[in-house]
Amino acid sequence: MYPYLSSPITINSLEVRNRIVYPALGVLYSYDRKLNDRYYHFFQEKARGGAGIVTVGPVGVDFIGSGIIVLSLAEDEAIPSFTRLAALIKEHGAAPWVQLFHAGAYSHPFIIDGKEPIAPSPIFSKYSKATPREMTLEDIDMVQTAFVQAALRAKQAGFSGVEIIASGGYLITQFVSPLRNHRTDQYGGNFENRMRFPRELIERLREKLGPDYPLTIRMAGNDFVPGSNTDAETPAIAKVYEKAGVDLINVTGGWHETKVPQLPMDLPRSGFSYLASNIKRVVSVPVAASNRITDPDVAEKILQDGCADMVSLGRVLIADPYWPKKAFQGKKEEIRPCVACSQGCTDEIFSGKPVFCTGNPMAGYEGERKIEKSAQPKKVMVIGAGAAGLEAAVTAAIAGHQVTVYEKKDDIGGQLYIAGAPPHKNEIWEFIRYYRAMIRKYNISVRLNTTVDKDLIQKEKPEFILVAEGAEALVPPIQGVDDPCVLSAWDVLKKNPLLGKEVAIIGGGAVGLETALFVADRGTLRPDVLHFLFAYDAESVDRLRELMFRGTSRVTVFEMLPKVGKDVGKSTRWVLFGNLEKYGIQIRTQAKVSSIKNGTVMYETDGKIEQMQFDHVILASGSRPVQRLSQEVGKSGIPYKIIGDCVQISKINDAIHGGFLAALTI
Ligand SMILES: Cc1cc2nc3c(=O)[nH]c(=O)nc-3n(C[C@H](O)[C@H](O)[C@H](O)COP(=O)(O)O)c2cc1C
Repeated sequence: MYPYLSSPITINSLEVRNRIVYPALGVLYSYDRKLNDRYYHFFQEKARGGAGIVTVGPVGVDFIGSGIIVLSLAEDEAIPSFTRLAALIKEHGAAPWVQLFHAGAYSHPFIIDGKEPIAPSPIFSKYSKATPREMTLEDIDMVQTAFVQAALRAKQAGFSGVEIIASGGYLITQFVSPLRNHRTDQYGGNFENRMRFPRELIERLREKLGPDYPLTIRMAGNDFVPGSNTDAETPAIAKVYEKAGVDLINVTGGWHETKVPQLPMDLPRSGFSYLASNIKRVVSVPVAASNRITDPDVAEKILQDGCADMVSLGRVLIADPYWPKKAFQGKKEEIRPCVACSQGCTDEIFSGKPVFCTGNPMAGYEGERKIEKSAQPKKVMVIGAGAAGLEAAVTAAIAGHQVTVYEKKDDIGGQLYIAGAPPHKNEIWEFIRYYRAMIRKYNISVRLNTTVDKDLIQKEKPEFILVAEGAEALVPPIQGVDDPCVLSAWDVLKKNPLLGKEVAIIGGGAVGLETALFVADRGTLRPDVLHFLFAYDAESVDRLRELMFRGTSRVTVFEMLPKVGKDVGKSTRWVLFGNLEKYGIQIRTQAKVSSIKNGTVMYETDGKIEQMQFDHVILASGSRPVQRLSQEVGKSGIPYKIIGDCVQISKINDAIHGGFLAALTI
């Protein structure tokens, strides 16, 4: 399977076993700049799963550029622990790599003991909320020296290669970007001068590391920041890097401030591969593509089409480190999906917390959360086939228990169907694909259209019960909720019924806002039609943009709180709010709906009663736990655990992790 993806590649003098790179990805498993057991287990698992290169990073080269929480190779004392890690990765056949990092203006004073960050020019950074000090020539030399020394330490520790980060908006990007580099000396101004810092750095690294040692770079194929480098300029930048001595260029896109989504589901699978292709056209060294390369078929096609020589799988290998092995063994259906929800990774990092994975309860807990084969396999009844029930069933089955899942509806998946319905959310349905494959693999029996009651429990005689009854939509105490024009968000997302031209949504939480997008998106241009119209200049660009976002219904959201989207994750909320604006969705906050009659919505705002007329009104006022069976099961005397939304309404990760942990206790 996948002849391109599985073929070896030579980087400088090193043969790497396949084309898969696990790239640098800050996971915050320590707050003292040091490696620990959690890191060892985490990276070892990546190597065990089959990746060709496993990158440890970001790794700071000095304190001012990385601070107190990023791993560091700034001192010799770090060498023994990095030596251990390199050996652990090599033990499983992967090539260990280190990404060397300097944040420049992005160094938040909070993480550098209140010191002033340094950067090419003293330009305020919205990301670190600080104005850096302009680097002197002495600073430039010191930072380059720090990179070289850290690289030598990585080499001494046994790492097979070193990457420097010239992407993401960090120090090297700041030198290269006309937007962040306003220097008037030899390190600023024209292209050649702006390239001087990275060029000198690469040359110094090459000289000290020796001609045969793999040295690679990560760059943005387009900064996606107005006034900075675009994909018209980046090929010339890549050529300078190649000439200076790098052996591979890993191409990503954007900075932290970029207003083009780089990580959420909105970015289509392999959406930035064209940037890698754009660089590959002008260089001879291998190029790696990055971002949202989730599917082995997509990865293979990138290589087969000649867009890149390698693929980076970041969050994808956190969701399933065994992605490479499963792909090569023809078991791609068994890959745990990265749905790019950003909840366990980006949202956590932005809150200063360690990374976990929504869909993989073992990620970051590789050393402690293990599914052991049970010495006394039991007959297990799982009630409910939503995320919690399915994860529990699969975990119990892997442990060797005999598992039957009972679902009152006619299919598995529960709320995953609803969560995956809005625009750019379909990736969530990948969880259902995964659970179906696991059900087949572990011979889990599934009884659909079956409501469990006391009699069925008595008849089946399970030895352990997992209750995952889920939730039901909450009906708010509003007069007229039984009006014929009223629908529930769950029904709309599930059944996509005919709706009129004017639609109201009551409730501005995540479900309400995503339902608003779902409704507003209906009747907009399909991507292939957009492609066709654009290719033939059939409509103007402005008109196409309008048609992309103008559907068949106009949508207004009513929220009684001062703000909408309180339960939307930190790292994705700006994308969601941007979409609401693009679709022209009207938001009325501090608007308490009091009644609905024949489509007339009466609401109180600013102490006044106002009204608006709609064809349909959709209720999105949250959900509440279903606890029909919980007490019954308690009385049965059979050991049991209650999991998922029927305990407390929460997010998908709570359901999946809760199901997993409960099944470990059987
Ligand atoms: C939490 C988090 C931390 C990251 N840290 C780094 C980093 O330090 N250096 C880097 O080059 N990329 C970093 N990235 C970007 C990833 O390496 C990768 O390019 C990105 O996640 C997109 O690829 P994916 O869709 O395969 O995850 C980070 C991404 C995430 C989600």
